[in-house]
Amino acid sequence: MTITPHSEETSLVIQLGSRRYRIHIGAGLMDRAGVLMAPILRQKRVFVISDSHVAPLYLERLQVSLSLSKIDSSYIILPSGEQTKSLAILEKLLDLLLAARCERRTALVALGGGVIGDLTGFAATILLRGIDLIQIPTTLLSQVDSAIGGKTGINTPYGKNLIGSFYQPCIVIIDISTIETLPVREIRAGYAEVVKYGCLDSPSFFKWLEIHGSQLLAGDLAARHYAVRMSCAIKARFVSADEREDGPRALLNLGHTFGHALEVETGFGSELRHGEAVSVGLVLAFDLSVRLGLCPGAEADRLRSHLTAVGLPVTIRQVLARPPEPARLLAHMARDKKVQDGRMQFVMARRIGRSFLNGTVKMDHVLAVLADSAGI
Ligand code: NAD
Ligand code: GLY
Repeated sequence: MTITPHSEETSLVIQLGSRRYRIHIGAGLMDRAGVLMAPILRQKRVFVISDSHVAPLYLERLQVSLSLSKIDSSYIILPSGEQTKSLAILEKLLDLLLAARCERRTALVALGGGVIGDLTGFAATILLRGIDLIQIPTTLLSQVDSAIGGKTGINTPYGKNLIGSFYQPCIVIIDISTIETLPVREIRAGYAEVVKYGCLDSPSFFKWLEIHGSQLLAGDLAARHYAVRMSCAIKARFVSADEREDGPRALLNLGHTFGHALEVETGFGSELRHGEAVSVGLVLAFDLSVRLGLCPGAEADRLRSHLTAVGLPVTIRQVLARPPEPARLLAHMARDKKVQDGRMQFVMARRIGRSFLNGTVKMDHVLAVLADSAGI
């Protein structure tokens, strides 16, 4: 397996029937954003939506790049954090855009992590019945997952992303050097989504991560480029096959049904990062598969050791100071978007790299796995 030299810019295409868009990946692409997006803009005018952490770091560079390509830009800066993915902030954002006379051919540019990407994506879906969207993700998590594939959304007190849409961007520009300014905890949280791709689809990628994961976390740009590209390529394949998650795309949610329940429990505060919840959720999905005799215990242990080696949590008691009763977590899980005819669908594993959907799991097993992990 080769590692792409980081100075290289690579690109991938997401093909959706007759529609397609390109994902550009490279170090320093922020300075080329204007050149990359100019050919696809319908009007040389964009609104950049960013947050209070990202804007001071990257907004000016992006604006210079846009103005060099003669693209007029305005910006809106929102508070950082998961609580920004709310109906109240969405309403504020839409009002600001309308007051500034955003038009149908104007594009929204999401400059930030998954929070800004998901919220801006949803605003783009409903504003003036749909305006163009450009994603410039700045966290590892958003570069490997949320900025591609077109899922947008906001949270409600009932759960994560329960209001949202499928709405694809016109282009995704991934500048992997933005990860350098991310706090290490955020890089690790994003890494959990990278591990997810190995777990659900690629034993060889998982093996590569076991060898090179710590290099990637320590800042090796070539390793970052390779891992982001591999993750995007796996995601692109699933999204192209099943844009609206009627089938195999659901596998991309490995670990998420459990993870979302933990996030609901913390009220979307800063106590638990989305990726940390996914890390615990991956282990729970494997533990459940082992409990049902569908996966060898050694596979779950291998996953646990890798996540632990890179400093990610693997149990509920590591992430929740006062773990709730398993039944309470199960009630959160029952609101998952994958519930069909009242039955919960679980993404499970036969081994690392081989996942499948199971809609016939008895809840006693789920409760037992939750109780073990919570130390109850
Ligand atoms: P985030 O957007 O909250 O970013 C994490 C923190 O890092 C924030 O404080 C942010 O301000 C800061 N930040 C971002 N980029 C930075 C940079 N380059 N340097 C310094 N600080 C920076 O969180 P996230 O982990 O990127 O995304 C999590 C969200 O993504 C969740 O809401 C989750 O539900 C969503 N998500 C969506 C999808 C999807 O398919 N749409 C997939 C996975 C996750
Ligand atoms: N994050 C899972 C998906 O995009 O389908």
